[in-house]
Amino acid sequence: MSELEPLAVLREAPAAAWALPGELRRLYGGDLALPGRCLYANFVASIDGVVAIPSLAGSNALISGKSEADRFVMGLLRAAADLVLIGSGTLRASPAGRWRAETVYPPAAEAYGTLRRELGYEASPRVAIVTASGAIPPEHPVLADSAIVLTTERGAARLDGELPAVAEIVVLPGEAEVDVRAAVDLLHGRGHGRILSEAGPHVFGSLVEAELVDDLFLTVSPLLAGRGDTAFALVEGVTLLPDRTRPALLRSVRAHGSHLFLHYALSVDVRP
Ligand SMILES: NC(=O)c1ccc[n+]([C@@H]2O[C@H](COP(=O)([O-])OP(=O)(O)OC[C@H]3O[C@@H](n4cnc5c(N)ncnc54)[C@H](OP(=O)(O)O)[C@@H]3O)[C@@H](O)[C@H]2O)c1
Repeated sequence: MSELEPLAVLREAPAAAWALPGELRRLYGGDLALPGRCLYANFVASIDGVVAIPSLAGSNALISGKSEADRFVMGLLRAAADLVLIGSGTLRASPAGRWRAETVYPPAAEAYGTLRRELGYEASPRVAIVTASGAIPPEHPVLADSAIVLTTERGAARLDGELPAVAEIVVLPGEAEVDVRAAVDLLHGRGHGRILSEAGPHVFGSLVEAELVDDLFLTVSPLLAGRGDTAFALVEGVTLLPDRTRPALLRSVRAHGSHLFLHYALSVDVRP
């Protein structure tokens, strides 16, 4: 049982949500509207849109202001996922990360486990890592969790014989970058229905550009970060305005103190 004050629901658009186990429902202030086959992303950003300062160790925690509610929501979204997708930049930034729900917010571990059993999922989501170059640390602990490495011919050649036997290397189209459409098609085709992207802003940019992201869960942390030269905004590496983007649909707004929790549908066409 968690001591966390429940999130306040400021707006909730009607949607076909499925019921969360009682404790998660109480803390989240409702249910989750995520279809059985979807790709949803989760980020925490400062008020000025900064999501990472790679030169600063632990920048995610700094940006979130160490919000307990943000960790609860991150755990909830992991618990609802069949698979978590990350990029090599995110892998390198979390040398001990295993992208598990119970690790990010231990007080809800039991409830997260109940949710996963109800969804028919294994105890933890599988993790897939996107890397074109294959420049990932072979000793990273998530690779020993049967991770899937989605890479190119070049990346596979570099990683040949380097990874734990349980890690799977899959060669996909692409040279400088992995073809993210091929990656997502492969994962869905293998039966991974709900895919959570916890990739950083470069892979997220490629996913958005390819119109592969259905939903975005965005925590706005009440901080101004400043960009300087090294900070990353939510989307990096692609230009979307004016022609390659469209308005998102705001599904829900929650608050916890001065943190805002926004849920957008990106794949719904809301143009008049
Ligand atoms: N605030 C948040 O909520 C949040 C969420 C996630 C991550 N982060 C932070 O973001 C930072 C990492 O950002 P990032 O953008 O470097 O991470 P990323 O998007 O996870 O990884 C980027 C790397 O993926 C590889 N890649 C392969 N195919 C790609 C494609 N089609 N498009 C783009 N990249 C492709 C590239 O490296 P190679 O091909 O050379 O391997 C690229 O440098 C870390 O500090 C992390 O902690 C913050």
